[in-house]
Amino acid sequence: MKAQVINDYLQPSEFKSDWELPTFDPKSDQVMVRMKSSSMNRGDYTIRSGAVKTFVSLKFPYILGKEGSGIVERVGEKVKSIQIGEQVAGIFGEVTKNGTFAEFAVFKEKELVRKPDCLDFDQASIMPAIGMAIVEMCRSHDWILPIIEREADRIANGQGLTPEYDESEKKSMTIVVIGASSGTGCMAVLFAKNFLTRYFHIKVIAVCSERNVSVVKQLGADGVIDYTKTSAALGNNTYHSGDEKLSIFQTLKKDFNIDFVDMIMDCVGGYYYYDDLTRHLKCLSDDGRRTYHVAIAPPGPLEVTFSSIPSILWYIVKNKAKSWWSAQNPYYFFFSTSPDNPRILKFLSSEQVCPIFTKIPITKFTLEDIQRADELMESQRTVGKIVINM
Ligand SMILES: NC(=O)c1ccc[n+]([C@@H]2O[C@H](COP(=O)([O-])OP(=O)(O)OC[C@H]3O[C@@H](n4cnc5c(N)ncnc54)[C@H](OP(=O)(O)O)[C@@H]3O)[C@@H](O)[C@H]2O)c1
Repeated sequence: MKAQVINDYLQPSEFKSDWELPTFDPKSDQVMVRMKSSSMNRGDYTIRSGAVKTFVSLKFPYILGKEGSGIVERVGEKVKSIQIGEQVAGIFGEVTKNGTFAEFAVFKEKELVRKPDCLDFDQASIMPAIGMAIVEMCRSHDWILPIIEREADRIANGQGLTPEYDESEKKSMTIVVIGASSGTGCMAVLFAKNFLTRYFHIKVIAVCSERNVSVVKQLGADGVIDYTKTSAALGNNTYHSGDEKLSIFQTLKKDFNIDFVDMIMDCVGGYYYYDDLTRHLKCLSDDGRRTYHVAIAPPGPLEVTFSSIPSILWYIVKNKAKSWWSAQNPYYFFFSTSPDNPRILKFLSSEQVCPIFTKIPITKFTLEDIQRADELMESQRTVGKIVINM
């Protein structure tokens, strides 16, 4: 089969046209998929770079890629819900397994859903990772959690979503999405403005650079902050207190007259935005609401080692403790994957939710040309998602 194979950390992948098929156990719950499209995630780059090799070590040669869509080629004896020839999309639960940047990949039955009719293979391939990440981030919020639970249950039971609430029933929420032009950021804006808006009056302020303003406005953002004009422009992993430029949250106050936000969704990760938030905004509203700060990745450097873990853990525990100590402090969360993935994947692929994925910008590359996709990912300038076509 065709595959892109890496032979060591930091090495570019090498195209092979005669690579052996992945191992398949015909007596199991495995499903072999002839891949049509595979989505490239920042996680693929992080793993390839060796930044997290202390915890995620690979056996070389190795095929990257964790999610994608395609047509079912073989099913194991224990598979009940999927048949040969069906169009599916899915994501691996296991990180170190050989991946989807190949002509064939082997998933477990529970990692797959039927490709919804409203999505083409490219759009379906980007659905699992960013979809589940943003749903998981939203589930941190006490108002949103019961709604997602209820709606996911309804979808699982074959019912449609609850009818949209009357305008008078909807509570108001302001959400700030940091990194709104990234794959996860686009999903955050779209999920808020297409799904949450059924149950709340949602205002989204998106943070991106000037070149992506029109993109995030098209996704539905109500206001935009250009981070390159704030102290966040100075770079990752740094706390910019006392800087000459205003911070993102000072800009929010000055330009939008907003001094309380219900939820901050940090889709960049690495920054100390929580500290900036607590310094410059009210985190307890006049009617008793608390700000939720949810980051997609913990603060600090990308490289996670035994020596960097204590400082990351200390930062998280300290912020959690602060929120328990005083209601003036925001709640602090950072993204973690949920064991509930099959149910959430079904919810995302439902007829009423999946049209969101038709609106996310996609840049496509062929499998043979994956180096150009790697370069774009490394540049950190991707708008929306990168998709690899087989
Ligand atoms: N992709 C997924 O499915 C997924 C799932 C779970 C978790 N994550 C995690 O989520 C994080 C983001 O991943 P991603 O794939 O969504 O990102 P990405 O696509 O690699 O992000 C690139 C985008 O981020 C913007 N950006 C870069 N620095 C920024 C900053 N300081 N402030 C605001 N925007 C900035 C860039 O816009 P400009 O060019 O305008 O700067 C560009 O549009 C990573 O830590 C990743 O591991 C991703």
